[in-house]
Amino acid sequence: MTVFEATCTAPVNIAVVKYWGKRDTSLILPTNSSLSVTLSQDQLHSKTTIRASADFTSDRLWLNGIEESIEKNKRLVACLRETRALRAQIEEKDASLPKLASLKIHICSENNFPTAAGLASSASGYACLVYTLSQLFQLPLDASDLSIVARQGSGSACRSLFGGFVAWEMGEKADGSDSKAVQIAPETHWPDLQAMICVVSDEKKGTSSTEGMQLTVKTSALLQHRIKEVVPKRMEEMIAAIRNKDFPKFAELTMQDSNQFHAVCLDTYPPIFYMNDISRAIIRIITEYNKDGVKAAYTFDAGPNAVIYAPEKNMAEIYAVLSHFFPGATFDDSLGLLSKTSTLPPLPQNFDTRVSPVFAQGSVKQILHTKADNGPRVLDSAQHGLLNAEGLPKRLA
Ligand code: DP6
Repeated sequence: MTVFEATCTAPVNIAVVKYWGKRDTSLILPTNSSLSVTLSQDQLHSKTTIRASADFTSDRLWLNGIEESIEKNKRLVACLRETRALRAQIEEKDASLPKLASLKIHICSENNFPTAAGLASSASGYACLVYTLSQLFQLPLDASDLSIVARQGSGSACRSLFGGFVAWEMGEKADGSDSKAVQIAPETHWPDLQAMICVVSDEKKGTSSTEGMQLTVKTSALLQHRIKEVVPKRMEEMIAAIRNKDFPKFAELTMQDSNQFHAVCLDTYPPIFYMNDISRAIIRIITEYNKDGVKAAYTFDAGPNAVIYAPEKNMAEIYAVLSHFFPGATFDDSLGLLSKTSTLPPLPQNFDTRVSPVFAQGSVKQILHTKADNGPRVLDSAQHGLLNAEGLPKRLA
């Protein structure tokens, strides 16, 4: 019997112009356009195997080895409904195609990074789900078309359908057909741009993005200013900075946008705090590091973790600076930063170490070095698939 199965991986993306606010919560249509950098799947990715079979009696889903309900998850149901409808359309036109649209499916998905680390897993997760469904169903859609489906899983997921530098155009139509991701430049355009992720230790479970942003839409006057006056101009400037590989401009806009996103969170009533003392210390440290010329850019999403974008040549120095203030962080040296230098570079001359105290061991748990990279990848299910012969997960939690 032919096995209908696909296995893919999809990347994480970190926005430099943030998405925050929906004008339609069920279609997930945003109140402003946004722009992100896709990070390498060699370090961070979601991986998904989906099989369709006449032997299956119901649709089933396993996330990181734990079975989850599909019906309770409206966003997942929407992604399945959309892709199945598209499959049914092509089956109708071509009678020789196997009838997959009506078969039950098993979905097994894993992240290669701990969800508890607070790194955006919904973006890579939904991008991977939709991309894998499109492979299974052989849908004749490009990445922008697929982004419209992935957007309905999680807004930021639409940007993970592309590698490199990706804009999510907010669109204006009520049906969402023009609210999609487009690639501004591929990862090869600016290979020098790298990222360092600081996983900040945090016990508290914060407000989810989904809830937080709607409270902001309801209560923040500053968000209205951001939507109308700030983001449209900033998107244009950011696209130009990327096209020109103008790091100082890219960095300035990235930091200003992160700051404004956290300002609208503070302007939300009651206020939402995502950054903590460690996050704020990282801002002061990077600001001091940039005092004689912009060499690094920080950005923070809906949590305390920092992502620092910088040209490759500054990375060893940035790591040295971070290690000074945050001892004991494990370093994920997958780009071989330390193997290139036998000793860490000294702190830059005239760096004023008084900008921040030295934090306790492990305040930053992990530092991960990565770079911009490509979009979703197709793997060979026979070798890399997550389901066994019976269509059940090979690994359970
Ligand atoms: C701060 O995409 O997680 O990371 O659409 O409700 O699933 P939903 O929200 P989500 O929000 C991401 C918010 C952000 C900014 C960004 O990625 O642009």
